[in-house]
Amino acid sequence: MSSMDPPSEFELPMHGAAIAGAPEGIGESLDAPPEPELLETPDHDADPLVEFRRTLGMFATGVTVITVVVDEQVHGMTANAFMSVSLSPPLILISIDRKARLNAMLREGVRFGVSVLEAGQRVLSDRFAGRPGEGTPEPRFEVVHATPLVEGALAHLVARVVRSYWGGDHSLFLGRVEYVYYGDGTPLLFHGGRYERVVRDPQVFSALPAQLLQPLLATGVEASFADGEALMRRGETGDSLYLVLEGQVRVERPGRFLSLGAGTVVGEIEVLDPGAGRIADVIAEGEVRALRVTRDDLRTALGTQPRAALALIEILASRFRELS
Ligand SMILES: Cc1cc2nc3c(=O)[nH]c(=O)nc-3n(C[C@H](O)[C@H](O)[C@H](O)COP(=O)(O)O)c2cc1C
Repeated sequence: MSSMDPPSEFELPMHGAAIAGAPEGIGESLDAPPEPELLETPDHDADPLVEFRRTLGMFATGVTVITVVVDEQVHGMTANAFMSVSLSPPLILISIDRKARLNAMLREGVRFGVSVLEAGQRVLSDRFAGRPGEGTPEPRFEVVHATPLVEGALAHLVARVVRSYWGGDHSLFLGRVEYVYYGDGTPLLFHGGRYERVVRDPQVFSALPAQLLQPLLATGVEASFADGEALMRRGETGDSLYLVLEGQVRVERPGRFLSLGAGTVVGEIEVLDPGAGRIADVIAEGEVRALRVTRDDLRTALGTQPRAALALIEILASRFRELS
């Protein structure tokens, strides 16, 4: 058996009625739509199909545009039902609605492109989902292996359909990957039926160049923390930031833990926001030496360092742009 031979369970004969142009099916019993009452939810008054859709929406994904060329025309469709399958051989899978035009264009041997959209490509996602907004720019494509790929995307793959499977009202297309590329940037995300974006760890003071940051921290007072001692607790109001000079701290917030070493600045957002609670617990891992700089000290230092004050405003403005 060569590495591309599919396992035998993929070769089950099709039962039940075929839909014209649809790929082979693998199970008659699944051809009928599920009875709503068979889909259980704890809320008995809720529509189970709506609950099903919403439940699936809790799984956050990236967003891709799948492209093919038919009769020298490019056809693209937005899809988030994309997954990696195998590294060796390199395989991916996409799930395409049987009613989508793309479904009839894909079959064994056909090459398709997958463009992983970048955070700024929301309008392109809408356009390829059949809802172009006013003034949506014309998409531009790069061509690799005679396959169009959306320009400016975060990653590109070209694959050739090697198998297709019945997937209820969708069809599943397994593609053997022939070309891959990835670039820099942040991905467009889809979650709960809405576009989202990755929010990086908030940095304000620590995003300043060293020559502007050092004079601001010069007024700090050194403090020592024993193993397990908290530099700050989540929810407490914070009137100071800490620069870790020696040792390691563990930053804990719901669902996230990370250890950071010397040079880390913690508590830099709350110090700018009187009354705001700390967003994380920060605990010493072993002995820690840190520089504590209070809000009053920072205010005074900023008064004498207008370049640093201006740089901080620019940092905050760029973060605002990222989030809007
Ligand atoms: C974020 C997002 C993800 C989508 N994912 C898929 C998908 O994985 N599979 C699919 O068949 N349709 C998906 N769609 C819907 C299709 O993009 C949409 O129905 C498209 O208009 C179908 O193409 P057609 O109009 O050429 O038939 C998605 C839409 C959006 C906005």
